[in-house]
Amino acid sequence: MKDTLAFDVYGTLFNTSGVVTKLREWVGEQAQQFADTWRNKQLEYSFRRGLMQNYKNFAVCTRQALDYTCAFYGVQLTAAQKDELLAVYRSLPLFEDVREGLTRAQAAGYRMFAFSNGAAEAVDALLTNAGIRDFFLGVVSTDDLKSFKPNPAVYCHFLRQAGASGSDAWMISSNPFDVIGAVSAGMKAVWVRRSPKTIFDPWEIQPTITIESLLELPDAIAKYHAGD
Ligand code: 2OP
Repeated sequence: MKDTLAFDVYGTLFNTSGVVTKLREWVGEQAQQFADTWRNKQLEYSFRRGLMQNYKNFAVCTRQALDYTCAFYGVQLTAAQKDELLAVYRSLPLFEDVREGLTRAQAAGYRMFAFSNGAAEAVDALLTNAGIRDFFLGVVSTDDLKSFKPNPAVYCHFLRQAGASGSDAWMISSNPFDVIGAVSAGMKAVWVRRSPKTIFDPWEIQPTITIESLLELPDAIAKYHAGD
């Protein structure tokens, strides 16, 4: 059986900075910083809720993080403006290497899944809207366990759902915490480092492979198996 690939969704397939264009109208030059704070807070809320075992789904983390970010920057948005931003979050743009990268990985015969903190319906809609749903055999969500990455249980859940084992399954992610979580839970992991400015956490855990674009993915895994 060919290896199984678990594609992370937010930040790996979809660019969460896609909200910046809309934000510029309301926040001006601080739009990128606002988007970064929003994203970091969203993840922090997921980590904290996971640890506290006080689960609310990822959409709630996203909304509450938006409220926090507005307060942090002293930006007053109406409920309608916030709804508009959250709607943009439901139709984020793909990174430009995604369609071709997925096409190449599919042609190489890999078993491909989307694996996300996002609820399955939300992720399904996002993939469908972007026209890439058909690349995937399925969507696996941490919502099934009422927990979030990087709880090791969610990676184990992915393996069970995908009918794979840690030795033949790869997490494909741009998020270092996700790469570290997957490797720590016994999977292999590819870190997609699109920008040389992105820093990997200086822990004792490294990605199995690092690539700069999803276009490199099939060749990088083949090279790994060939032992180069
Ligand atoms: C995802 O699970 C981590 O946000 C990222 O899609």
